[in-house]
Amino acid sequence: LTPERYPVRRLPFSVVSEDDLAALEHIVPGRVITDPEELEAPNVDWLRMVRGSSKVLLRPRTTQEVAHILRYCHERNLAVNPQGGNTGMVGGSTPVFDEIIVSTALMNQVLSFHDVSGVLVCQAGCVLEALSQYVEERGFVMPLDLGAKGSCHIGGNVATNAGGLRFLRYGSLRGTVLGLEVVLANGTVLNCLTSLRKDNTGYDLKQLFIGSEGTLGVITAVSILCPPKPSAVNVAFLGCPGFAEVLQTFRTCRAMLGEILSAFEFMDAECMKLVRLHLGLSCPVQESPFYVLVETAGSGPGHDAEKLDRFLEQVLDSGLVTDGTLGSDERRIKMLWALRERITEALSCDGYVYKYDLSLPLDRLYDLVGDLRARLGPSAKRVVGYGHLGDGNLHLNVTAETFSASLLGTLEPYVYEWTAGQRGSVSAEHGLGFRKKDVLGYSKPPEALQLMRQLKALLDPKGILNPYKTLPTHI
Ligand code: FAD
Ligand code: MLT
Ligand code: ZN
Repeated sequence: LTPERYPVRRLPFSVVSEDDLAALEHIVPGRVITDPEELEAPNVDWLRMVRGSSKVLLRPRTTQEVAHILRYCHERNLAVNPQGGNTGMVGGSTPVFDEIIVSTALMNQVLSFHDVSGVLVCQAGCVLEALSQYVEERGFVMPLDLGAKGSCHIGGNVATNAGGLRFLRYGSLRGTVLGLEVVLANGTVLNCLTSLRKDNTGYDLKQLFIGSEGTLGVITAVSILCPPKPSAVNVAFLGCPGFAEVLQTFRTCRAMLGEILSAFEFMDAECMKLVRLHLGLSCPVQESPFYVLVETAGSGPGHDAEKLDRFLEQVLDSGLVTDGTLGSDERRIKMLWALRERITEALSCDGYVYKYDLSLPLDRLYDLVGDLRARLGPSAKRVVGYGHLGDGNLHLNVTAETFSASLLGTLEPYVYEWTAGQRGSVSAEHGLGFRKKDVLGYSKPPEALQLMRQLKALLDPKGILNPYKTLPTHI
């Protein structure tokens, strides 16, 4: 964590003492990690942009252990950093200074699954991919999917309100999460782990914790609604001559595929170059300025294939799409999805990455990419655009050989002002964490920021939970 890049001062929390270590050892025997080598990875984020200096990591197995830990830390004024799979994109998952890392890695038990309703109740540390496998064996799917599925935890997903690749079909976790169990900063267990579809008994408290990035409580268990597993899945990977055609393809897609459309993702030609160069993937269609991945998921293979064929005929005949390829078996579907899902990985091989995750009106979604290419000229190595087009979510990434303060100065606040000018969001799905917390004001009015501050003070009066994250430094 370079102080000139991230000017931040340690708040007056206590420093972990030998007595604290002994007390914590009592709470989670054999699961207090102080070995510097083991602490290396959890102190650094996935993007390798931020590094903390925590000297202690705890691995609770149960809600009661989390409650004891927080009660103790609250009393002793020790700061805590909840951590799931450490795949977050905004530096929220790693400590800033010496916060105690509370990892959910051992909280990985499925608590129940109902094979009629599809309601899954599990501990917060279950890995998303393991849950997918569990529910798929029972004829259901998880309502969310993301490139980080092999590492991210469901608790981390809920804490960040992750969007991902199935958002278009199954919507936000704000709809599919039915209940949560959360441990508050002072160790109180808030059991709102219900599995009801409808429940209007006052304020919906679980919503406070969805997307709160570990600043209001530690999520210990999740109840989530899983949809039935579609028996027919197809993927079409298409090349488009321009962004206007990408938008028209989306419009046609929604009109012609209707209820079977399950994903509409896009990437530009620079992204294709990246996955080819750094990951050795090959482009399955003619080279094009833009590529679109359309997924259908339904219950009738014949019906879906027929609809998809008619759609493809239409977009090819009208020139909206210049070339395309289809996948309907698992291997080919995975191969086509990899082109889109692995862009993040390819970017991280390209140099220093300036990462933006914006919600924008569809008509203007790609304008900023071209605008920035002109604005940055050769000072950037690459400016790329991809994302969840069906959700109005652009991932705008700029790479350079190394970090440059002057390039950052050209990018910010320009990108945020441009986004605010469109009434967009400066964080569509990644959250604010440590790196984006001071740009919140571009997307929310001062009254909203003030209310957020009041809620934080109410739930965590000593501010021990994920300090330095999510809330702006100054309000
Ligand atoms: P972590 O990274 O460990 O933590 C993230 C935040 O949540 C931190 O602030 C942490 O303190 C807090 N937290 C974690 N667990 C808990 C808990 N139990 N209780 C309270 N707070 C907690 N994100 C998307 O939205 N859409 C995508 O499509 C997407 N694709 C990705 C692809 C790749 C290759 C990668 C590396 C990341 C991607 N992400 C995506 C970002 C990231 O995977 C998600 O934000 C994910 O939900 C984080 O889960 P995690 O378990 O890794 O959480
Ligand atoms: C994605 O959609 O690939 C993820 O959100 C990660 C990223 O933005 O790179
Ligand atoms: Zn994304």
